[in-house]
Amino acid sequence: PRPQDLAGRHVVISAGGTREPLDPVRYLGNRSSGRQGYALARTARDRGARVTVVAANVSLDDPAGVDVVEVETTDQLRTAVRAAARTADVVVMAAAVADFRPVAAAGHKVKKRSDGVVDPILLEANPDILAELTAERLRPGQVIVGFAAETGDEHTTVLEYGRAKARRKGADLLAVNAVGHGLAFGTTDNAVTILDRHGDVLGAAVGSKDEVADALWDEVCRLG
Ligand code: C5P
Repeated sequence: PRPQDLAGRHVVISAGGTREPLDPVRYLGNRSSGRQGYALARTARDRGARVTVVAANVSLDDPAGVDVVEVETTDQLRTAVRAAARTADVVVMAAAVADFRPVAAAGHKVKKRSDGVVDPILLEANPDILAELTAERLRPGQVIVGFAAETGDEHTTVLEYGRAKARRKGADLLAVNAVGHGLAFGTTDNAVTILDRHGDVLGAAVGSKDEVADALWDEVCRLG
């Protein structure tokens, strides 16, 4: 049995990955399964919270006793998260949100041309929903949590990228995980480092996505 330390709190969690239509049959998307977001939803429910999940293209069974709002695009996710955030005590942005969207989706399926020439796809930036939420604080005292999926390179480690992002995004907590090479996306296990808004390390969690979720709720409860 879990502690009932989220009792009386409304928790909003975005899960999955957004898709941006290119034409009626194609989209730009990502590999997020929604498993970490759904683990957060189940564990928050079990710790007594009222839970709203905004699910972007998740093909998992809905957790019992949780409100699920299904969305496809970043724009839809933004509208649904912002609506739910007005009454939320905690917002966790676990969804992988597309950073870019096609400037215009074609009304018809884009055809192959006989001359072999392919038209470029023009992209524009999506709004950063997490940064908007932290700037606006739709409900005073709300705790806002972000995720950062990072790959390291020869110059900068995953953690250094995460620390810079924590300072930039303004979230109260940022869960940083290494992705790529079979890590995190689409898998059942996860490993995260939890940072505060200054980029300082509060803790780390390795294990099932439920265990990682519980570690994150522990830090949320420690914030008050
Ligand atoms: O900048 P990056 O995409 O790595 O940031 C990841 C965090 O920001 C996640 O919590 C994600 O849900 C959120 N995000 C967002 N809106 C975007 C891009 C990311 O809310 N357009």
